[in-house]
Amino acid sequence: MAHRRTFSARFPDMTPVMLDSPPLTPIPNVGGFPISGSRKPRAYWARTTLLAGFAFVALSLYLLVVSHPALRAPSFLDTARPAAADGARWSSETFRKALKHKKPVAAAADFSARPQIVLNATQELAAVSSFIASLPQNMIPATVDPSLPIDPQLILDFDTRGPHAEEELQAVMQDVWTRNPVMLYCKVHSPVSRELKQVLKNLYLRPASTIVDVDTRPDEHVLTQLLYRLTSASELPILLVGGRIIAEPKEIKWLAETGDLQKAITEAGAVVDGSRKKKPKKL
Ligand SMILES: *[C@@H]1O[C@H](CO)[C@@H](O)[C@H](O)[C@H]1NC(C)=O
Repeated sequence: MAHRRTFSARFPDMTPVMLDSPPLTPIPNVGGFPISGSRKPRAYWARTTLLAGFAFVALSLYLLVVSHPALRAPSFLDTARPAAADGARWSSETFRKALKHKKPVAAAADFSARPQIVLNATQELAAVSSFIASLPQNMIPATVDPSLPIDPQLILDFDTRGPHAEEELQAVMQDVWTRNPVMLYCKVHSPVSRELKQVLKNLYLRPASTIVDVDTRPDEHVLTQLLYRLTSASELPILLVGGRIIAEPKEIKWLAETGDLQKAITEAGAVVDGSRKKKPKKL
C-alpha cells in the first residue's frame, strides 16, 4: 500500500493503476482500433482489410510450406515403395500421420501379418541341432518350455515370417546334416557316452563327429528335455546319423562291429577313415 500511495502522490492527476501495467503511459491501443467501437472510420476498415489480407497470406504460406507434405500423403503411399529420396524429405511425424490416414501398402501389411513358419518334429530337431552346432555359445533360452514346439525365430537366423521362410528352412535342413552327418548329444559324466565317443573316434570320420556335451552346458536341462521330445529317446547319449536315430546307444557298438554303423554313416555323407590324424570336432 505504501508503494501505491507514493505512486499516486507523485502523479496526482492519474488514476492509480495496477503495478503490472506500464506506469507512465496510458493503456496502449495495441491494434490501433478505436476503443469505443461505435464509429468505424475509413482508416479502420483499411487496416482491418490489410490485417485480414496479411493473415490470409500467412495462413496460405503455412499450409503450402509446412503442411503440404501431409496433404500429399495419400498419393505418396499409393506408390508401392517409398523411394529413399522421397522418404528422406519426410519427417517421421508426417510419415506417422500419413500412415494413420491411409492403410499401409500391401507389401508392408503382408510382411507383419504373415504367420510364422510351423516346424514339425523333424524340422525342429534339425533347427535346434543347426543352432547348437553352429556356435558353441548358442544356448536355448531358459524361458523355453521344452514340452511345447519351440519358437522358430529363437533358433533360426532368417526371418521366420518372411516370404521365403519355407525355402530357407529347407536350406537349413539340408545344410545341418551335411555339415554334421554324425552328431552325438552326450554327457561327460556317463560311461555309455564315453564308450560311444570312443567308437566314433575309432572311425576317423570326415567331417568329424559333432560332439555336444550336454551336461556341461548352461542350457542342459531345457536342451535335454527338448531332445527327449524331438527324438522320443528317454536318455542321453543320443546319436543322430543323417538326422536320424539309427539305434539305441547300447546297440551302437555292436553295429560298429557288424559294419552297419559305417554303412549308415557313409550314406549320411561322412567318410569313414577320412581323417586318420584328426580329432573329433569338440563343442
Ligand atoms: C516334417 O515335414 C517334412 C517336410 O514337409 C517331412 O519331410 C517330414 O517327414 C515331416 N516330419 C514329421 C515328423 O512329420
